Amino acid sequence: MNLSDLNKIALAMVTPGKGILAADESSGTIKKRFDAIKVDSTEDNRRDYREMLFRSQEAMSKYISGVILYDETIWQNAKDGTPLVKLIEQAGAIPGIKVDEGTQALPNCPGELVTVGLDKLAERLKKYYERGARFAKWRAVIDIGPRIPTQTAIRVNAHALARYAALCQAAQIVPIVEPEVLMDGDHDIDRCYEVTQRVLNRTFQELRVQRVALEGMILKPNMAISGKKCPKQASVQEVAEKTIRLLKSCVPAAVPGIAFLSGGQSDEEATAHLDAMNKIGHLPWRLTFSYGRALQAAPQKAWSGKPDNVPAGQRAFSHRARMNGLASTGNWEAGLEKQAA
Ligand code: 13P
Repeated sequence: MNLSDLNKIALAMVTPGKGILAADESSGTIKKRFDAIKVDSTEDNRRDYREMLFRSQEAMSKYISGVILYDETIWQNAKDGTPLVKLIEQAGAIPGIKVDEGTQALPNCPGELVTVGLDKLAERLKKYYERGARFAKWRAVIDIGPRIPTQTAIRVNAHALARYAALCQAAQIVPIVEPEVLMDGDHDIDRCYEVTQRVLNRTFQELRVQRVALEGMILKPNMAISGKKCPKQASVQEVAEKTIRLLKSCVPAAVPGIAFLSGGQSDEEATAHLDAMNKIGHLPWRLTFSYGRALQAAPQKAWSGKPDNVPAGQRAFSHRARMNGLASTGNWEAGLEKQAA
């Protein structure tokens, strides 16, 4: 492992003013997104949609540091035959790859999941590196409910995350470590805080045990936030303050950057929360976005599968990317949203 090179890539992924586009929806997830805009989820439509995003010159060159791809996409070519990975590189962004293979039920823990995909991961990483991937992603999912999460689910998922991260670094790939505590449910922000703290503490414990170099990774956490069905929704300022307090208590300063998932927040909430955290400032790590839905909902709607709508889709994507780029330095203002595409 060359740690200095891993550290350089990790820092580039969290370049101030930029963040990560999570375009790594699995076939099942992208079908759900396409169903919502009445587009058939064919291989060609998935390619056309993603090509539209990666050819959004303004967004890609100014506000996007890296793109997380799904396995299908990393091997796909644009309509004119250019590999999609090349489009990303030509825009000055770094290609990345989702390497987990989804979740399975965790035995003895009803309702809980464990992320799988460690078998043969070393060989897969080698092929992805040759194709141009310089970072990877693995997502663990922790749900909050009446008697969950169990410590069992937290431990097995943290163990797998650390196994994945160590394998990535051995392959000269920066791991994005993503332990996502879901915001589904009616729990309040303090319950989310307490569960996320347990999850992050256990995750960093495992990373240490498995000798992962913190300087060569990026953390992708959820924010401390109220459950979607909680009657009392925390304010933007409360989310920002509690998330920073939480992260300061669990994330070592050696980690170069933290790139949040959006997790079902509205586009503007996701931006406002990131901005409020960066306005507080004085942080040991760079804080940016690694959004899927909060970057793509608007362009998906504007595009709706019609070739004529490609410019509108690109404008919508560029707008959200610019808003989040500004939030990554604490320079976003709600008024800027009105100048939308
Ligand atoms: P969301 O921002 O839509 O939560 O997606 C980010 C991601 O990569 C989830 O794994």
